Amino acid sequence: MELETVKILKNRKIAEDIYELLLYAPNIWHRVLPGQFAEIYLENGINILPRPLSICQAALGNLRLIYKTVGDGTRRLSEFREGDGIRILAPLGNGFPVDFDASYEHIVIGGGIGVVPLLRLAQTRRGDVRVFLGFRAKEQIILREDFAAATEHLRIATDDGSYGYHGNIISLVKEELADSDKPRVIYACGPKPLLRAVQSFAAKNNTLAYLSLEERMGCGFGACIGCVVKTVHGYKKVCKDGTVFLADEVIFDE
Ligand code: FES
Repeated sequence: MELETVKILKNRKIAEDIYELLLYAPNIWHRVLPGQFAEIYLENGINILPRPLSICQAALGNLRLIYKTVGDGTRRLSEFREGDGIRILAPLGNGFPVDFDASYEHIVIGGGIGVVPLLRLAQTRRGDVRVFLGFRAKEQIILREDFAAATEHLRIATDDGSYGYHGNIISLVKEELADSDKPRVIYACGPKPLLRAVQSFAAKNNTLAYLSLEERMGCGFGACIGCVVKTVHGYKKVCKDGTVFLADEVIFDE
């Protein structure tokens, strides 16, 4: 895998502090699995600032990425315009398993910016995927139309009740899944408290679950050891061994 310079087709704000970046990447898009990510390399004087961004779609030569402006690097990225070139390394990470078994119910759970890598997963299987997305408030909701086009079973929760279910997304998942005893598999991405809750829900219900971890990353390909997490198999690198792990492998800090 090599660093490539690709062209920006679109870079626009879609919600509070959230941007959509569309890239023309004809040599990359066809290799991307659901849940994989890209490192964008930004130059700042003599420093190179790699930034990991989630890929939400890869189609017809293009990559669609969504990012949150959380520091200097991503703020600088938000100033790039259509036609600018940008250096990118992708696809990175292992991605979610895509060998869907039709006899299972596929439960997709995302929180905040963590919903981004789940879109392509939901799109890979229509109809039998149930999607649960949680946000702090209506203004923070992203990709609603995209998920709605991918599944008839989309539920959204907001912490403040300004849209959809009022409350925690895991409470909604528990309510909605209580009357179903179909075998199921869960795929989740979001902040640590959400992933911890999914881990515990899956353990109590003897359900297979995959968690995509969000960690601070440096290199993105296993060289800097900046992204290690504790697992039952020892320390693992989120960027290379993950970002997707089996829920019962991960040991969250107290
Ligand atoms: Fe460098 Fe994971 S980000 S090893």
